[in-house]
Amino acid sequence: MRTPVTAPSQGELERQNGFMEKIAEINRKKDRKPRFFINTFGCQMNAHDSEKLDGMLRKMGYEPCADEKEADFVLYNTCCVRENAENKVYGNLGFLKHAKKENPDMKIALCGCMMQQPTVIETIRKKYRHVDIVFGTFNIYKLPELIMTNIESSSPVFDIWDNYADIVEDLPTVRKFKYKASVNIMFGCNNFCSYCIVPYVRGRERSRRPGDILSEIRALAADGVKEVMLLGQNVNSYGRGLDEDIDFAGLLRMVNEIDGIERIRFMTSHPKDLSDRLISAMAECDKVCGHIHLPFQAGSNEILKRMNRRYTKEQYLGLVDRIRTAMPDIAITTDIIVGFPGETAADVDETIDVVKKARFNGAFTFIYSKRTGTPAAEMPNMVSEQDAKANFNRLLDAVNPIVEELNQKKVGNTYKVLVDGVSSDPALVTGRTDDNTLVHFKGCRELIGDIVDVKITDSKIFYLIGELQ
Ligand code: 5AD
Ligand code: SF4
Repeated sequence: MRTPVTAPSQGELERQNGFMEKIAEINRKKDRKPRFFINTFGCQMNAHDSEKLDGMLRKMGYEPCADEKEADFVLYNTCCVRENAENKVYGNLGFLKHAKKENPDMKIALCGCMMQQPTVIETIRKKYRHVDIVFGTFNIYKLPELIMTNIESSSPVFDIWDNYADIVEDLPTVRKFKYKASVNIMFGCNNFCSYCIVPYVRGRERSRRPGDILSEIRALAADGVKEVMLLGQNVNSYGRGLDEDIDFAGLLRMVNEIDGIERIRFMTSHPKDLSDRLISAMAECDKVCGHIHLPFQAGSNEILKRMNRRYTKEQYLGLVDRIRTAMPDIAITTDIIVGFPGETAADVDETIDVVKKARFNGAFTFIYSKRTGTPAAEMPNMVSEQDAKANFNRLLDAVNPIVEELNQKKVGNTYKVLVDGVSSDPALVTGRTDDNTLVHFKGCRELIGDIVDVKITDSKIFYLIGELQ
């Protein structure tokens, strides 16, 4: 059932709280606490949604477990940006069918971007009948009600909305880290880049009110959070459509005033909307980190046009210049796609030219994946896998030496590092510099959550080695 929703969901949180209490009551009567396992695919937006799902499940009396085979409630929060993310979900679901035979009481739930596609829902209904609950990106707050409906009806529950109703504030959330947290500032995307499925599965752009965002961050700061990551598909258009007269630059300045917050990060910026006001705000706000993720996707103007990115290679490089002039030490990272329909080796040369001129501190590189329903899926001249791979490798050969060289330059300097966790080598801890570079150094887990001085002694392609000062 696809339910178009128009009515705002006033009081929805209280309603869901009611379901949470009822389910907690049911779970209290069981011999042991039921266990849950959440598998999150995709981006930070999904990771943050999973923190909310985790919070709700705990409130309903479930406890987390590390092995999905042991779980009574398995939840996949899915991604559909590229095909391989979807294939993984289908593969895992096959495996879960066997696990469910061993434990017939196991409940399997699916949510996230992939579920917003009607073809996926059809496939699940036909081929994956062992799935119990399916919902989408607009109604994650309804998890308690959907579990209750499934308990009462003991039949599969599908609840996918085509659009959002209201932004439901104040869901219980379990943060993965005590000292850093993600905060949604907006949802959805209006850009319709021609290769991208996101606008179809996450809906139109809508901003949260600044008051709600600021009070959430104040509460996080009071709870020991030092670093916030402001999340949105396109943060640079924050504020459009709100009654308040505010833009992203204004929001950053307000967050910068919050006591207790020491670092502010944000993701993702679209180059076409990045204003000089934002560059000034970044340069002037002492807590805003010296890093910007600024996807450019392709260097050829023809490809950019067909991608509907609405900037040229020259405009992108001009923007990089303006950012570096205002903040000479800033790290710039990016996303790049190769193999877009019709892309030639000469087009990829243009992409490599941008890489060499912009000198990125890091790049996420992707081979184009055809997404049904997007304009690019209808475009002619699909690039063969072989050509795409060859171009992809050429691109990596351009990206990696620059990343390595920029990291190498940091050797000998001392940076403030927010310690994140223990490394795979238990004698080492890991953390991030202000410009988001990963650093490993000798230290104990008591340092986790502290911001410490670390002198860089060595560099690898993707991380630095240092010594605690
Ligand atoms: N194929 C490959 N990469 C894609 N991205 C988005 N859609 C696709 C696609 N169809 C990449 C873009 C975007 C990042 C999150 O994922 O580079 O910035
Ligand atoms: Fe997709 Fe483009 Fe929106 Fe990013 S800005 S989510 S690439 S449509």
